[in-house]
Amino acid sequence: MMRSAPVVAAGKGVPRYLQQVYWWAYVHPRAVRLFERPWLVNAILFGHYARLRDAALQALGSPLDGCTLQVACVYGNLTPRLLQRLPPGAQLQVLDALPIQLSNLRDKLPADTRVQLLQADAAALPQADASVDRVLMFFLLHEMPDAVRRTALAQALRVLKPGGQLVLMDYHRPVPWHPLRPLMRLVFRRLEPYAMDLWQHELDAFLPPGVAVATLQQRTWFGGLYQLRVLRR
Ligand SMILES: C[S@@+](CC[C@H](N)C(=O)[O-])C[C@H]1O[C@@H](n2cnc3c(N)ncnc32)[C@H](O)[C@@H]1O
Repeated sequence: MMRSAPVVAAGKGVPRYLQQVYWWAYVHPRAVRLFERPWLVNAILFGHYARLRDAALQALGSPLDGCTLQVACVYGNLTPRLLQRLPPGAQLQVLDALPIQLSNLRDKLPADTRVQLLQADAAALPQADASVDRVLMFFLLHEMPDAVRRTALAQALRVLKPGGQLVLMDYHRPVPWHPLRPLMRLVFRRLEPYAMDLWQHELDAFLPPGVAVATLQQRTWFGGLYQLRVLRR
């Protein structure tokens, strides 16, 4: 019988910005109970959840042989879908700073020894250099302060094997006439103070200087509000 993945503490404590800014979304137990609902996750993305999840999965490819690293848990069923694409002998590591998010994820996954749940900071990945075949960050970067975002991207590229892929799905600056611009501005101002950075800059602005990466895919959805960027190390 397969064993349920234990949560392995691989890093230091919880980043302060998560506690201060995102307590209502990820840290508080009531937040987990509130947000872990398919219809709500889909509503937050204006009905685009399945489209964006599937685009990220497609960008990662299939089967997911070797080692796949998902940096940060997400509400919804992205990780169970990742697991379905894992062939025998492959490994899926999911890392998050919050133990409560990792145990919530564990409850959504079947027992499977190919999955490893790691409690650590994305800005200080415990993985060795060039040890991972692909990295996924799904709506993580907009939640990070600028310096953390830059470090997290540098860390993702550090742990990738040469030729490995970094798949980024996140917010992006929508077209000027987008009807949701005012609402999103308000949401960002009130709840997501770092998210406007992704409206103001393309993702390249946050990549570490001096690290050669190639863009394999770049596309946007919903009037530019969401973006996918696939980079190769
Ligand atoms: C991926 S993001 C947002 C995803 C999206 N809103 C959703 O849940 O569908 C949320 C996760 O990122 C995690 N997180 C944020 N900053 C982190 C960091 N520096 N290191 C590790 N995990 C982090 C949070 O604990 C949370 O579980």
